[in-house]
Amino acid sequence: MEYGFLGYRSTFMLDFVVSALILIVPLLLFSLYSVKIKRNFALHKKLQILLGAVLLVAVAAFEVDVQIMHGGWENIVNQRETPLTPEQFNYVRNVLYVHLVFAVTTPLFWAATLFLALRRIPNPPAPCAHSSLHKKLGWISTIDITLTSLTGLYWYYTAFVSSV
Ligand code: HEM
Repeated sequence: MEYGFLGYRSTFMLDFVVSALILIVPLLLFSLYSVKIKRNFALHKKLQILLGAVLLVAVAAFEVDVQIMHGGWENIVNQRETPLTPEQFNYVRNVLYVHLVFAVTTPLFWAATLFLALRRIPNPPAPCAHSSLHKKLGWISTIDITLTSLTGLYWYYTAFVSSV
């Protein structure tokens, strides 16, 4: 497949990550519903570990594709049929910088939340002395990944979809 599968002049992995970013939000909402409303701590634990693994694989494959296979995002954006004007290109670059603020901090918060939860929350999982810190870290990670997803999707839109 020369380009991505979403119908734009993107790449397969970029489209894969965009799809993963869309899927992550409902899965995360379901995990929070499980823990907050249903108090099903074991399901929440499984879902959060699964989400972490999916994110790790998607981001690693994506970085290999963008940096090693294509030599940077600029080369992928330049595959467009109608090239971006210099102003549009600058705008796309600025949107990417905003996205990167969230995209870089999310794995750090996610890893810290997961690592501490696995070490400090009992097995089977239940409320404990670590709950208060876990809830704070958990909500920061949740908001961070949601912003990563929204800004990432907006970047994809500005880079490949708008003014085609
Ligand atoms: C990065 C991964 C994780 C995130 C983002 C996350 C997020 C959250 C959030 C936001 C809450 C608070 C819900 C509320 O406001 O009531 C919560 C609660 C909880 N989480 Fe996680 N979680 C993660 C991983 C885990 C893991 C691996 C475990 C088990 C080892 C776990 C066990 C719990 C438990 C037991 C509660 C309930 C705490 C209480 O109500 O006292 N979480 N989680």
